[in-house]
This record gives sequence, structure tokens and C-alpha cells, in this order.
Amino acid sequence: MDDWQNVIRKRDFPMIARGNCRGKSTVYLDNAATTQCPRPVLWAMEDYWSLRHANVHRGVYCLSARATEALEETRQLTADFLRVSRDEIVFTSGATDSANMLAEAFALGELKRGDLVLATEMEHNSNLLPWLEACRRTGAVLELVKIREDGELDMEDLYRRLEKKPRLLAVTAVSNVLGTVNPLSQIVSSAHSAGAAVAVDAAQAMRCDLPELKSPDCDFLFFSGHKLMGPTGIGVLYAKAEWIDRLPPVRYGGGMLRELRIPEPEYESGVGKFEAGTLNLSGIAGLGAALEYLQVVGRRRIAAYERELLRHAEERLSSIDGLRILGAPKRRSGVLSFLLPPLQAYDAAVLLDKKGFALRSGRHCADALHARLGISGSVRLSPAFYNTGEELDRFGDALEQIAALSRTVGAGKHG
Ligand code: ALA
Repeated sequence: MDDWQNVIRKRDFPMIARGNCRGKSTVYLDNAATTQCPRPVLWAMEDYWSLRHANVHRGVYCLSARATEALEETRQLTADFLRVSRDEIVFTSGATDSANMLAEAFALGELKRGDLVLATEMEHNSNLLPWLEACRRTGAVLELVKIREDGELDMEDLYRRLEKKPRLLAVTAVSNVLGTVNPLSQIVSSAHSAGAAVAVDAAQAMRCDLPELKSPDCDFLFFSGHKLMGPTGIGVLYAKAEWIDRLPPVRYGGGMLRELRIPEPEYESGVGKFEAGTLNLSGIAGLGAALEYLQVVGRRRIAAYERELLRHAEERLSSIDGLRILGAPKRRSGVLSFLLPPLQAYDAAVLLDKKGFALRSGRHCADALHARLGISGSVRLSPAFYNTGEELDRFGDALEQIAALSRTVGAGKHG
């Protein structure tokens, strides 16, 4: 374990350092589902509730002004993280909320009967279902870009479908099952040449320090705070300035009205028109603290360490008899999913839990991908920078024991 890592584990992540759940040994390896909050994030939220709580943009008094400043500071931090303008950052309740809001606005303002929208076979349901519903509502058509056997996006299939001049391409930066890092720059420039807007799901990508996500060229990008060491209930939708102007609001209420004219009210311009009602202010304080935390620990250091952890896990898991890792993309980040036949994914995860390893099994909300692979589920390993190589070695040993046991039982059944 590196020194910096030893320090942050003990100092910042009590659950990880304690390593148990109800007295049972637990190594947390489900970071693609949600990450643990370091203490500075918890402090920021406590500080907000105990000392700074007031509604924003609504009061002339000092507390309200201070709360507004704090909100806008986090907007600036988020913009700096992505190297975009703060006027392009909308707060939502999570990546799913961002995608839904965007698809609703796109349906209302842009889509018409017969238009084509593309998503990919590796999308999380959150970057697929909102578009499917947007198409159903408007009479547009949704098509899925294929993936290849190795888990890469099939670029030839993408180029063919782009010839049909779709209005929008919904694509993930990193697959939440295969870990495939998509060639975003290439995808975005091809889509733009075909006249399509691009909506990027960056939920799994924000800790990877991908160059493509700095000053991204896509039209829209979204992510959740809770996969980035922040709290749940807070998310971000980035939309290029021209889209902020062009798209209509889809939530109506306090804070987004400029002038009430019936029947045609005038709404705020800028990001305010998308932020009706009271935002999750303590969540925003937590997100700001999480972004600062990642900067202080070092985004490049975190990404490099997580890449090394995943490489280590891949090497260890590849040596286990009968274990099948899903996909073999050129660039993999964050997750490693696998099958351990004849065990079902669910049973493997239950046995792993009994041995003290917390990780997710099932379809991981990526139903199109599992259908494409012809499997009903998989087990997913997703370490983060507070995990260690030693934990992954123990995980490999546990998996090896489970594999051996299932072979014995399987052989017994047939014998
Ligand atoms: N989107 C999260 C996952 O992939 C919940 O597990």
C-alpha cells in the first residue's frame, strides 16, 4: 500500500478502515454503484446544516446570501473540474435525473415524428430509457449502435448509422459493465459531422481523469455526485451554452420564472430555467467538498492507482480456472465483470459476501448489453483508490475457492 493511500484510508474513510459490517469482515468493492464519502464531505454537509442552512436566491438576509454564494462556488468548482463555463452547469438530483430532464427537453424542443436517435448497446438504462420514451412520445425512432465481441463500440456500425443523419447520439464515456473507455473524441467529431448532438453519460468516468472529459466537445454530459465521493441525491447536467439557450425548461415552479404572463409566461434564461424549486443544498455542499477532496488527493494519482488496481485484478482473475471476464477492450476503466459457470451471478455474489466481499451481481441496469451478450447477469468488481492490491489478492483467493467448490459440486451432480 502506498503511504498516501494508507493515510487516506485511516483518516478519511471510516467504513473502509473498519472493514466490517455488523461485525462481519467486509471489503467494499462496489464503487461503480456508489462510492464512500470521505470525512471532509461529511463535515461539509454537517457544516451546511448546522451553520449555513437557508434557501438560496430567495432572501436578502445574510444567511441566504451566504448559502447562495456557497451554491455558486460549487457550480464554479464543477465547471473547473470539467473546464467549462459555470453558465453551462445545471444541478439535478443525479445522473438519471439529468438524462431524463435532457431527454424531456430534447423531445419538447427538438424531436419530431420520423427523427432518428441513436444510443448504444452498452448504455446504462439511464441513458437509454429516457431516449426511448422521448422517441415514443414524439414519434421519433431509437436505434442501438452495436458493440463488438471484445466489448468495444462497433465504430463501423456507428458510421453507417450516422449516415442516416440522427438528431442525437447517446453514448457512455465508460461502460458500467465492461469498463470499455469509448473513443469519445472520435465519436463526437463523427457525430457532429453528421449533424447529430451528443449526450455523454459520464457517471462511471469522472474518476478516470480522461483527457476527453476536460473541455469536452460533446453537447451534453452528466454524472452523479455519489460515484465521485460525494453524497447521493445530487447530480450535474452540463449543456453547451448554445443548448442552455435553445432547450426549453421541463420543470416549472419557483426560481425559474422571470415574468408571469398568462398564458405565455417568460422564464429565466441561463441555467436557472432548469432549476425549478429548492435544490439539494447540502448535497451541493457535499459535491463541492468531494471535488475539492479529489483535487487535493490528486486526480491523476487517483486515476493511475485505480488503473493499476484493475490491471492487478484482471491478471489475478485471469488465472482462475473457468472464470470468464466479459470483454477485452483496449482501454478498460473502473470495472471488471465476470461469470463463474456453472454458478449463477447471484449465487457467486452471495458466496463472496459470506467471505466478506461486497460487490454487485445482476444486469447492473445494462439490460441491452446483457441481452446482446446472451447472459442473464454477471458479477461486477469495481475497486476504488481506497482499496488495495492485498484486498484484491484475498478476493482472488476467495474466488478461487468458490470456483473449486462449484466445480466439485457440478462434477458431483453429473457423476
Ligand atoms: N449505476 C449504478 C451501477 O451501475 C447504480 O451499479
